[in-house]
Amino acid sequence: MDHTDYFFQIYGTLPRAGPGSNALTRRALELMTELPESPRILDVGCGPGMQTIELLSATSGTVLALDLMPEMTVRVRASAESTGVSDRLEALQQDMKEMSFPESSFDVVWSEGAIYFLGFEAGLRKVRPFIKPGGYVAVSEAVWLKPDPPPEVVDFWAEYPEIDVVPEKLAVIERVGYERVGHFVMPPTAWTEHYYDPMEIRIAEKEADWRGIQAAEAVLREARNEISVFRRYSHYFSYAFFVMRRPD
Ligand SMILES: C[S@@+](CC[C@H](N)C(=O)[O-])C[C@H]1O[C@@H](n2cnc3c(N)ncnc32)[C@H](O)[C@@H]1O
Repeated sequence: MDHTDYFFQIYGTLPRAGPGSNALTRRALELMTELPESPRILDVGCGPGMQTIELLSATSGTVLALDLMPEMTVRVRASAESTGVSDRLEALQQDMKEMSFPESSFDVVWSEGAIYFLGFEAGLRKVRPFIKPGGYVAVSEAVWLKPDPPPEVVDFWAEYPEIDVVPEKLAVIERVGYERVGHFVMPPTAWTEHYYDPMEIRIAEKEADWRGIQAAEAVLREARNEISVFRRYSHYFSYAFFVMRRPD
């Protein structure tokens, strides 16, 4: 087994693959006040699909859930089956870079913690033609909450240089040609409840068995460091939800 296998055993088995919660998914959805009765939704980078299932539960629409990792499409399908909503779900294993849908295919494009794989601006540009005029986009994205983060925090986010303050993200949304509908910053519980708390349990489960295996210990170290940076400095950064609309 290599680093990716161990990484997947920690990160790939959590209830979510990034910050968020059902309440926050609903809050973003409720900003979309002019949805059709049964919206057609594209969920980009669905991961294990907690938000996919919430979207299916909160609407009578259909969701096309897309993820690069086959393990994730398997998980989202299994969740939809156990929740009784699988007849309205299609799960597609695909690289979002290769996404290609006819113009105006969806009422909503959703992407929690995943649009950054395309780049925030490039991602918003890429999905724009897929949305019907008047349709919506909801994305969550990393943001700075205050200036001058300590070096340890800057180091941690170095891998994601697009983290920025909310007004800069809003400026991108306007530049790409969307109407702003609303935005809100996620509270710290969005990081802990379904993500870091279960991650700590997973780390504890693996620690003894993985002792002495270099690649495995590296994964545990990275995970512990990520949690520790968050616990000490969560007042400097979070994710924010941005909801926007393709003009008519
Ligand atoms: C941070 S996770 C977020 C998952 C989920 N939306 C959530 O909030 O729990 C990002 C997801 O994007 C997927 N992903 C990464 N690169 C991708 C790509 N190029 N195309 C499609 N999915 C990708 C990963 O497999 C992962 O499931």
